[in-house]
Amino acid sequence: MAEAERYYVTTPIYYVNDAPHIGHAYTTLACDALARFMRLDGRSVHFLTGTDEHGQKVAKSAAAAGMSPKDFTDKVSQNFRELAKAMNFSNDDFIRTTEERHKKSCQELWRRLKERGEVYLGSYAGWYAVRDEAYYGEEELTLAPNGKRIAPSGAEVEWVEEPSYFFKLSQWGDKLLKFYEDNPQFLAPESRRNEIISFVKSGLRDLSVSRTTFNWGVPVPDDPDHVMYVWLDALTNYITAVGFPDDNAPSYRKFWPADLHMVGKDIARFHMVYWPAFLMAAGLEPPRRVFAHGWWTNEGQKMSKSLGNALEPHAMVAKYGLDQVRYFLLREIPFGNDGDFSHRSMVHRMNGDLANDLGNLAQRVLSMINKNCGEQVPQPGAFTDADKKLLSSAHGLLAKVRPLMAEQAFHRTLEAIWQVVGDGNRYVDEQAPWALKKTDPARMATVLYVLAETVRHVAILVQPVMPHSMAKMLDQLAVPDDARTFSALGDGGTLKPGTKLPKPEGVFPRYVDEAA
Ligand code: ME8
Ligand code: MG
Repeated sequence: MAEAERYYVTTPIYYVNDAPHIGHAYTTLACDALARFMRLDGRSVHFLTGTDEHGQKVAKSAAAAGMSPKDFTDKVSQNFRELAKAMNFSNDDFIRTTEERHKKSCQELWRRLKERGEVYLGSYAGWYAVRDEAYYGEEELTLAPNGKRIAPSGAEVEWVEEPSYFFKLSQWGDKLLKFYEDNPQFLAPESRRNEIISFVKSGLRDLSVSRTTFNWGVPVPDDPDHVMYVWLDALTNYITAVGFPDDNAPSYRKFWPADLHMVGKDIARFHMVYWPAFLMAAGLEPPRRVFAHGWWTNEGQKMSKSLGNALEPHAMVAKYGLDQVRYFLLREIPFGNDGDFSHRSMVHRMNGDLANDLGNLAQRVLSMINKNCGEQVPQPGAFTDADKKLLSSAHGLLAKVRPLMAEQAFHRTLEAIWQVVGDGNRYVDEQAPWALKKTDPARMATVLYVLAETVRHVAILVQPVMPHSMAKMLDQLAVPDDARTFSALGDGGTLKPGTKLPKPEGVFPRYVDEAA
């Protein structure tokens, strides 16, 4: 058998100083759904997440907490591991930039840049925003009423003057533009494309890539007064995790270049401009695609510490249920656009799509089978046109959603699946199996079989988004563990008539508002 096609997907590595909120969970969730989908589709997947632990921002937070940066990061990076557990993320690795493997990797990348004449020593005098860990040009700033200068992100900047190494970013503009042109799938979604291209076209300045005024970072090889700029350090995590600096390591050869870096739109520029430039300059391959998704707000408001309105994933899961939250986030908004969380829209999805549509379909079918077919998968007779139509739409789903998942269109994937759920519910109403019970039990068995097959297809395909609930649904259909991958879809891997079924239980309870 040919070796499985590989799939390498990464999340941003999160700054440990912030408590994880739903925005962080969202990015990792999107990657988790992709990783699970690709595994079920037979690919060999590497799914990476982790924490960004160096730099001034983290060092300041550690100082504010009265801890050493090392103790502080050891402690708070746990919050992100716990988030991964609570959200049922299936990451294969969790990288911390304070690990030894990463230090080696950063220093080797630096050496290669240095050897190739891409880095030179100079001095930086300009604006820096610690909150963004980013340099800004004077022309990008605005003046706040209190006289402070503000970056486009809203972060305050401070004046910095220090010796610094620079990366010759100014030399990479044309090569980046050519790279974008040759690799049209690299910049995603489409709406982010023009923004990045016009930023590059406006002319790139050399980029300061080391700092000397603090030491919480990776030391620059042969010049330990400098630590590497935290973004150069952070971006490098994506190659560290697959084995760099050994670029002959089997894992590196297998997984690099990454298939996808998933990020939020706030950090598009770092991933779409700086990172491919660093890699090309070091003689390494850039990733295949970067998707910069949109921004969540809470009931119409930007989430922030000062407003105290950050949506806390653990609390949301406790209130609505894990799979309900996972489904909502990926279904509610076209992936790539900004989205607003509201209790109302959450409950609407839970009670509509989940309880009424999918939950009800599965529950009706399974309880009729339980009552009327001897608690076993019914034996179908000949299929009518209506039966064939529903079966073929279920059988055709994988071919429909594969290209949608390849472009991270989660909302359209779920929409396509729910189309079949809707077809299934209409078919139940039309065929009225409860009425057939007396008049034509053989026909009733056929109808219930067709429905069970449809539910099986839906449940297998929805696993990447709602793994727990779909496992329950597949348990109720007595689908063996080894028959839950996409190779069991289509008319090859059908349910076996006569298979004993457990007692059905509802999978998606309705949410009842206490206030209502
Ligand atoms: O930027 N809506 O880390 P970070 C949607 N360490 N996504 C959101 C969000 C929101 N309201 N808030 C945060 C960093 N995110 C760097 C990354 S990578 C080499 C280094 C998500 O902790 C989104 O993915 O500030 C965003 O890009 C990321 O969290 C920023 O996380
Ligand atoms: Mg941030």
